[in-house]
Amino acid sequence: SEPLRLGIAGLGTVGTGVVKIVRQKANLLAARAGRPVVITAVSARTRDKDRGVRIGDYAWEDDPVKLAARDDVDVFVELMGGSDGPAKAATEAAIAAGKDVVTANKAMLAHHGQALAEAAEAAGRVIRFEAAVAGGIPVIKALTEGLAGNEIVRVMGVMNGTCNYILTRMQSAGLSYETVFEEASVLGYLEADPELDVGGIDAGHKLSLLSAIAFGAQVNFEGVELEGIGQITIEDIRAAADMGFRIKLLGVAQMGARGLEQRMSPCLVPADSPLGQLEGGTNMVVIEGDHVGQIVLRGAGAGEGPTASAVLGDVMDIARGIRPATFGRPAVELEPAKAAKG
Ligand code: HSE
Repeated sequence: SEPLRLGIAGLGTVGTGVVKIVRQKANLLAARAGRPVVITAVSARTRDKDRGVRIGDYAWEDDPVKLAARDDVDVFVELMGGSDGPAKAATEAAIAAGKDVVTANKAMLAHHGQALAEAAEAAGRVIRFEAAVAGGIPVIKALTEGLAGNEIVRVMGVMNGTCNYILTRMQSAGLSYETVFEEASVLGYLEADPELDVGGIDAGHKLSLLSAIAFGAQVNFEGVELEGIGQITIEDIRAAADMGFRIKLLGVAQMGARGLEQRMSPCLVPADSPLGQLEGGTNMVVIEGDHVGQIVLRGAGAGEGPTASAVLGDVMDIARGIRPATFGRPAVELEPAKAAKG
């Protein structure tokens, strides 16, 4: 049967991981999808660079917008990042050219996801984004597929591994915020603009996507009350520990009296709870459904393998013709913005 042809824009950590899986697992993917899954064209900032994987077999485009519209591309895989600029232009071009889109771009979707999803829907295409929220944890699929028979009562979780690393390390090593921030920087954990991490903005982006899916609402990042971890001191961490708590940058989304409430802020959680015990760069998402009760999903929120795994999950759904709803219509009155940032 007809192969599913991917055009990949962005060959950083995640893009390289996707190329590796498609090359190494070609037979497995084809057997599971019932058709071959192949890469036909790629685009990145730099062409000649040792990525530890062959890209010479694929057509090359300097311009991701051109890649997105190529006749030999069925699915545009956007792994460039950035909320505006080339990522958005190329995603719009892909939809206009009748392609399905798979993206890991949480910032782009938090700001433009509603418009992009509606454009895709109008064109009869889908935009899938499992990799944009909590890396390798299949939380979007859990909500849209496995939990589709539930009304979601609440979603909460730790969705920024860098902040969790910083807070966990302050606690375990008794180090100051500044010292651990510097460590995280040296280890390459921080986003190019660190404020996206420590300001809670990256996690807020993810929460806005998760809550739109969970509650059938429009994406409303401006409606997320945001507070980062920059003010947390070692004294705060110690005082929390003395009372049996940990401080976590926790996102919570739930239906309140005035509609959807979304908050991303440092919170006290019991030290012996699943959230309290979450170590290092890991993510955790807790979902409460009216029938299923509480579900805890835990796993790697970033990195080559886990994020590529989520991208491939979306690619495989498209290969198999599975087309779930993305962002909802406004099923609820949305709460007006409170503390819009970012
Ligand atoms: N900066 C993000 C994090 C990367 O630390 O979780 C994954 O989205």
